[in-house]
Amino acid sequence: MKKSVTASAPGKIILTGEHFVVHGAYSIAAAINKRVKVNISNTTDDSYIVSGSSRSKMAENDGRFILVKTILNQTIGKKSKNGEVAISISSEIPAGSGLGSSAAVAVATAAAALKFADLEVDSRKIFEIALSGERKVHGNPSGVDIETSLRGGLLLFSRNAGAKPIPLNRTVQFLIVYSGKPRNTSKMIDKVGLKKKQFPHFFESLTRSASFLSLDVVDAITVGDLPRLGALMNISQTTLSWIGASTSALDRLIDDLAAQDVFGVKLTGAGGGGSVIALPKPESIETLSQFASKNYPWSLLKQIPQEGLRWEE
Ligand code: PMV
Repeated sequence: MKKSVTASAPGKIILTGEHFVVHGAYSIAAAINKRVKVNISNTTDDSYIVSGSSRSKMAENDGRFILVKTILNQTIGKKSKNGEVAISISSEIPAGSGLGSSAAVAVATAAAALKFADLEVDSRKIFEIALSGERKVHGNPSGVDIETSLRGGLLLFSRNAGAKPIPLNRTVQFLIVYSGKPRNTSKMIDKVGLKKKQFPHFFESLTRSASFLSLDVVDAITVGDLPRLGALMNISQTTLSWIGASTSALDRLIDDLAAQDVFGVKLTGAGGGGSVIALPKPESIETLSQFASKNYPWSLLKQIPQEGLRWEE
């Protein structure tokens, strides 16, 4: 009998605290409405990845293959022999863009696999299984990407305190621009780890500051104080630049966007490539969006917050 389960999970942007969250700081992240859909079935099809209009067989050295295999081994693999299921992943999020495509794959796969295997589908279980998959690919992830993709919304997250949903009675628009250069999260986490080794005390003070910055972001965004939110994003970018997460290409992109009518602009995620986010002034949203689509190959105007994990037909 044909059995098929489909789940989808969103990508995310990090407003502040990336990297420092790995070392214990608070971070703020929000789900965006660009999603990854994962189908698991007992057909004899090959496993494949659909991205835009292209459909490719999953290569064994693809990070997503390793991620998915780790998750299937812990779920369906426990109940039946491996290789009995086909998995297809369709993604609206460019891989390597720093917008949480890997976490979204992990969350949707973990949820679909638990359901497919008739195991209990519980948020904590999905989180743990998805995180162990991410560990195989990214080394030492904090879990902020996974919590955001799983729960959706706007989250204040730290490794110690876990995720705290921040209620928002308004939406906020961000312009997201992908630099076109994929970022490598584990490489960037290692690079920042070296800074910590070199400057342990100063790094500790930056980690604490990142937490205070995140708490100020919560205050600014909940009262709708966009100029203050933008200023906090700019401060965050300066620190990220100092720890080596920015590149000259990202700096140029950030300078170009900062010259437009924006309150703030920063890289989002691990850096070294990936994406930047800009907070437009409300009256300039249209102009900025036109500027971005004329000048950059991949840019989007996105409202936060958005829905987390969901089941699909
Ligand atoms: O993988 P990215 O680009 O979404 O970055 C995740 C944020 C980091 O703080 C760099 C890593 C982590 O796991 O928190």
